[in-house]
Amino acid sequence: MSGPGGSVATGGASREGWEQAAKPSGSAPIRLADFEALALAKLPPGWGAYYSGAANDEVTLADNIAAFGRRRFLPRIGVNVEGRDPSVEVLGRRWPSPFMVAPMALHRLADPDGELAVARACAARGLVFSLSTVGTASIEDVAATGAASWFQLYLLKDQGRSRELLARAEAAGHEAIILTMDAPILGRRERDIRTGFSLPPGVSYANIRRGAIKRDDTYGDDEFKPENTWGDLAWVTQTTRLPVVVKGVLRADDAVRALDLGAAAVDVSNHGGRQLDQSIASIDALPAVADAVAGRAPILLDSGIRRGTDVLTALALGARAVMVGRPVLWSLAWGGEAGVGLAFDLLAAEVNLALGIAGLRTPAEASRDLLVSVTG
Ligand SMILES: Cc1cc2nc3c(=O)[nH]c(=O)nc-3n(C[C@H](O)[C@H](O)[C@H](O)COP(=O)(O)O)c2cc1C
Repeated sequence: MSGPGGSVATGGASREGWEQAAKPSGSAPIRLADFEALALAKLPPGWGAYYSGAANDEVTLADNIAAFGRRRFLPRIGVNVEGRDPSVEVLGRRWPSPFMVAPMALHRLADPDGELAVARACAARGLVFSLSTVGTASIEDVAATGAASWFQLYLLKDQGRSRELLARAEAAGHEAIILTMDAPILGRRERDIRTGFSLPPGVSYANIRRGAIKRDDTYGDDEFKPENTWGDLAWVTQTTRLPVVVKGVLRADDAVRALDLGAAAVDVSNHGGRQLDQSIASIDALPAVADAVAGRAPILLDSGIRRGTDVLTALALGARAVMVGRPVLWSLAWGGEAGVGLAFDLLAAEVNLALGIAGLRTPAEASRDLLVSVTG
């Protein structure tokens, strides 16, 4: 205890030794949130703002984090958690830890190897990498890293070209299609407006034609199909043999509809707050979706995952696994493939620790009685 006079009770150790032990060991990141400041210090301001920013007043961006903080655990005691197994099964395969990489645009802003660096870090750990339609590495090059990869589709206006992307993903060995349905038009990202963000020279989309893009800020949404309907989902599920994950679900009725139309899984997501500001936090939307889905299909969740305890919360509320977004880009900007690997290892260790201290031997043992809500 540090008193008014600054005296420290050290329990016998010297004051000097105590201060040494209590000192942080440099600036190395020890949790996912640490990577943000490190990335922002390295990146040109407009690029960091593109990664970290969200729509309008960024209410949902903040709430995605705050919503985890409105819950508390009721851990179990008396359980032997030695030898616990954090692996989960999703879409017919077992993954070593219940998290995967969320699809995100433009990894090459963070690192010259971009998506390939992240995919390699995934391959080394048996984790799923998701490649965005607006990624900067090709569908084929990502597959060649040996990572298990899922291809995220934004529907293009030209249905023939959407069909080509689906066929390429299948031929290259991607294992699933993520159809993102919450971004038929883009949210207003005001940090990007203020910084005048646009695609820098030397960075280009690897899977869509840049020439066709008219809009000069980020995605060039003139090329994208501005309406994403249930008919489009039905078309995708009929066009690919791969399982389809519908991303961007926040409503129970939409989750059921997606499964009725052939989706193999749903991802509860508000796109990291980048689409409709003041949308519900994903973790707050999850229980109703889980009730409606009632075990018919696996549920994924993203938006706001920063801690192993966040992963545990999502599991307890009905997710099979989560997807990690911004921390992947931040760690890539900070340390390339090794930086991303460190972020994965930190999160995997946190998940394993949280499971054990909560008194669980497997993710499947996480259930709602593990949590209570608190206000304020
Ligand atoms: C810079 C950036 C680019 C993104 N690009 C895409 C994308 O191309 N396709 C997509 O489905 N989601 C995209 N997302 C959303 C992520 O998949 C995910 O939903 C979100 O990042 C989760 O929030 P979090 O990063 O705060 O955890 C993007 C997110 C960020 C931060």
